[in-house]
Amino acid sequence: MQNVPEEPNLTTATKPEQIIWTKRDLLDLENLSREEIELILDRAEDFVKDDPRHQEKRSDLKGIVVANLFFEPSTRTRTSFGLAAKRLSADTIDFTPSSSSLIKGESFIDTAKNIQAMGADVMVVRHAVPGAPHLLAEHLHCAIINAGDGAHEHPTQGLLDILTIRQRLGRVEGLTVGLVGDIAHSRVARSNIHGLLKLGAKVIVCGPPTLVPRSISRLGVEISYHLDDILPHCDVVNILRIQFERQRHGLFPSVHEYAMLFGMNGERLRRAKPDILLLAPGPINRGVEVTPEVADGPHSAILQQVTNGLAVRMAVLKLLCNRSESAQGAHG
Ligand code: NCD
Repeated sequence: MQNVPEEPNLTTATKPEQIIWTKRDLLDLENLSREEIELILDRAEDFVKDDPRHQEKRSDLKGIVVANLFFEPSTRTRTSFGLAAKRLSADTIDFTPSSSSLIKGESFIDTAKNIQAMGADVMVVRHAVPGAPHLLAEHLHCAIINAGDGAHEHPTQGLLDILTIRQRLGRVEGLTVGLVGDIAHSRVARSNIHGLLKLGAKVIVCGPPTLVPRSISRLGVEISYHLDDILPHCDVVNILRIQFERQRHGLFPSVHEYAMLFGMNGERLRRAKPDILLLAPGPINRGVEVTPEVADGPHSAILQQVTNGLAVRMAVLKLLCNRSESAQGAHG
């Protein structure tokens, strides 16, 4: 199901301010250009500076309907898409699969088509099956945003991670970013890899051999199985959760051993660069991938990432909807 529909890349200008957003959907970072990624980041930056308490409510998406369709659990992504839509004055639909007619046998595509028939202009979709949002993009005419498809991609998470790096370190180009943990099952890893490489960072993926497929090197990343070897070289470490829900059987001997070898703790941090930046998409398992002192310490940008997530999602919604308005009827 991972057939990415062909979208013409009409983004030809070289300066971010000259770029016009032309894509109907946001399905992955793999198929975005560097300029498109930078355009989203720049727009998001404007929203970060916005304080809604000190100004009139924005009406950018007035009359637009944004539907959240989450077929997998979510805290940050779901609520921030909902809030982003409301901040821009959109109407929102929050679809809950467990209390829907899916239980009566209605198909995924039929369910989505019915929500589209209510006037949804944008559908934010999270699903356990890789390519599920791409499938909807083929069958529906509204804009589709991938909010995480299995172990494939999670583009807005990749964008908010990169925005946080840019804010904290002033650049992305030339940095060395370590992605540590369950690379095999992490959609966040794949979106980070595509986005970071396009913006000129070096990416090292690190974890136990059973959680780091060798084939990932084809994407242009280095592989390491020893966190202590790569840590002194990293400007940023993105701490990824072990995706137990996607593993069919145990892929390492014990959680305790994982924490000893790959967990980010205070002692390990002392051997890192003094200004190392630590990210984690959340949820975090305190004491497994990261200790509480590190998660809550000065190197951690975990909550700043959440704040940036709202801004990134506002930027994405606005870009897709503006595009839809200017190209009305041009897609089917
Ligand atoms: C991530 C996800 O769902 O892929 N979380 C998120 O969106 N903030 C990462 C994870 O679940 O570990």
